[in-house]
Amino acid sequence: ITKKIELIKKNIGLYPDFPVPGVSFRDTFSILRQPNLFNTLKSILIDAVQTHFMEAECIAGLDARGFLIGPLIALELRLPFIPIRKQGKLPGKVTSEGYTKEYGKDTVEVQTDSVTPGMKILVVDDLLATGGSLEASCHLIEKCQGDVIGCLVIIEIESLHGRSRLHVPIHSIVKY
Ligand code: PRP
Ligand code: HPA
Repeated sequence: ITKKIELIKKNIGLYPDFPVPGVSFRDTFSILRQPNLFNTLKSILIDAVQTHFMEAECIAGLDARGFLIGPLIALELRLPFIPIRKQGKLPGKVTSEGYTKEYGKDTVEVQTDSVTPGMKILVVDDLLATGGSLEASCHLIEKCQGDVIGCLVIIEIESLHGRSRLHVPIHSIVKY
């Protein structure tokens, strides 16, 4: 598994000063364009859920890059997937939460009735930077009475201390 993680880390793209000066952007699409690597990543993620978040009853993924890995994990484990979307994109009754992230402000929403009270939910995304996005998403699920059991990300930017904003267990595959 350490070898597999090294391989993923080596293949994550790096773009200095994107999308704004001063941000070094880590790009996971470099993994998705190589099917063997994507498959390796998939097996690492499934293994992480089975090791750390066995009790998960549902996978929630963040717009937009949590949508790439969330359904992959959910389908493999035969769990429901629910999207946490940027404002104004989801139909029906929604619950909203505003936040700030590494390079701007945003609002996330969930379809209120997609969360059943007490449901054990694992929240997934590609990357943890300041933690604003995951913090808002966890809060959103809790507002709908879901039980957030933890967060799983591919990449954690440790220097931004996003982990300290979250009160649930966080598992990251690759750390910078
Ligand atoms: C990025 C990334 C995470 C979030 C991390 O998404 O995919 O969701 O920022 O930053 P944070 O820890 O500081 O909140 P972004 O909001 O840029 O949206 P996108 O996927 O639609 O590009
Ligand atoms: N990569 C992708 N998304 C991000 C990053 C990054 O480096 N920082 C904040 N969101």
